[in-house]
Amino acid sequence: MKKLTIAIDGHASTGKSSIAKKLAIKYGYIYINSGSMYRAVTLYVIQNNLLLLLKSDIDLFIKKLSSTSIHFKFNDNDLISEIYMNNINIEQQINTLEVSEMVSEIAAIPEIRREMVKLQRNIDRNMGVVMDGRDIGSVVFPDADIKLFLTASDSVRAKRRFDEMILKGESVKYESILNNIKNRDKLDSSRLDSPLVIEKDAFLIDNSNMTINDQLEVISNIIDKKLLN
Ligand code: DC
Repeated sequence: MKKLTIAIDGHASTGKSSIAKKLAIKYGYIYINSGSMYRAVTLYVIQNNLLLLLKSDIDLFIKKLSSTSIHFKFNDNDLISEIYMNNINIEQQINTLEVSEMVSEIAAIPEIRREMVKLQRNIDRNMGVVMDGRDIGSVVFPDADIKLFLTASDSVRAKRRFDEMILKGESVKYESILNNIKNRDKLDSSRLDSPLVIEKDAFLIDNSNMTINDQLEVISNIIDKKLLN
């Protein structure tokens, strides 16, 4: 059976990783959340107080960063890859509002993008891969077999994210989340280096009124058709 490369890009909090995980499990592909790599760098900056260095000497920052290992490990229980920094699972730590508020600024730095794209392209695609992010179909894998672009209304996205964080026990305000989402979209779409764009050959999916199972059905149809070709 042919193994595909599936690129999922889209606006912030459109459920890209939820659908990507489900697709990876269904088709037995590797799942990589590229946003978590930019979040890991952000966490590294916060934990080591490196914001000033980042702004004053990017080369030295990259040198320090390259001695830090950022990698994914497959979790046999959840059947998905989870992100580790220096062998510590940081899945929980990268999803706080503090990281979300800083990550777009850090992800806009070309030198950091270059390092992350290198890591992303190193992934073995022979097993089939689903990768989500902002520049996967445009920069990381322009040759992807399937490109998807997810979007949804601002309020639907903020409400989903808010519910998710409340469920995790975080104390957050809906307005802060809404502002963060709008802000990240603006920064991600307007940055000079690999901005978020809708590729001409991407399937555009507005999931404002779709359940995760609706999306799984629509996307599985696209994949199954491709597998038959
Ligand atoms: O998908 P996410 O919200 O976890 O991504 C976090 C940030 O990283 C987001 O604001 C944009 C950036 N990002 C990026 O620039 N390129 C990617 N391939 C993935 C994420």
